Amino acid sequence: MASVFVSRRLVGDALDQLAAAHDVTVWEGDAPPPPEDLRARAAGAEGLLCLLTDRVDAALLDACPRLRVIANYAVGTDNIDLELCAARGIAVGRTPDVLTDATADLAWALLLAVARRLPEAAAAVRAGDTAPGGSGAGVSPGAWRTWEPRGWLGVGLAGRRLLVVGPGRIGGAVARRAEGFGMRVALAGRDDDLHAALAAADVVSLHAPLTGSTRHLLDAPAFAAMKPGALLVNTARGGLVDQVALADALRSGHLAGAGLDVTDPEPLPPDDPLLQAPNLLVLPH
Ligand code: GLV
Repeated sequence: MASVFVSRRLVGDALDQLAAAHDVTVWEGDAPPPPEDLRARAAGAEGLLCLLTDRVDAALLDACPRLRVIANYAVGTDNIDLELCAARGIAVGRTPDVLTDATADLAWALLLAVARRLPEAAAAVRAGDTAPGGSGAGVSPGAWRTWEPRGWLGVGLAGRRLLVVGPGRIGGAVARRAEGFGMRVALAGRDDDLHAALAAADVVSLHAPLTGSTRHLLDAPAFAAMKPGALLVNTARGGLVDQVALADALRSGHLAGAGLDVTDPEPLPPDDPLLQAPNLLVLPH
């Protein structure tokens, strides 16, 4: 029996299965273990089952000299120093495919929500027909006063061009959904001219891994290259986007909306200026 530390309680019977074969200790907190607790609790472990909220770096590996295998409860591995693990002979596993469709569905939900301005429209309903202020004509966020022909108009997806940045499993699943909506699809991989691809797209959906070379892949020049009125969806990693530049692009109206399941940091502080940007929907990953 190997000694295994698990950094969170999980859903289903995964931990029962693991405990049937190994000596398992589970972090009982509702929040991720702080790094010093993770180091202390995993110190004697031969196996570590961790989440994307756990940083696996030199400090952790130094504290866990018996560690032989890491199972990351995520598709992405940007929380793990893979080179260091390889150098120390520690095998790293992850969970490709288990959430391909779930992530593609969520990307699609975010896209439809911002294309149809659901965040603003839902807020207008809650503001009610007696709320002071509002737009009067209802063409921009305000209270729901009456049926308004010009109110909360979004963009139709049929015939528009979707750019999938990072054409892996999830990007492919998003592209298949786009076909059902009558969209034209383009894929951008590592070796493609990203700015040229951005310039031709009405909707951009990010599905690339976060690495040293993809951090802030969408920065101010990239947003400037995007079509006026384009939409952005990010269900990959928050670090792919320069959020200051994104907030500017939304505030100036250059981008018509953004739907994010990921931010940097996570959670995003409630007073982060990004959250004041118009037609932005942010979900808690
Ligand atoms: C989720 O973000 C994952 O990488 O699995």
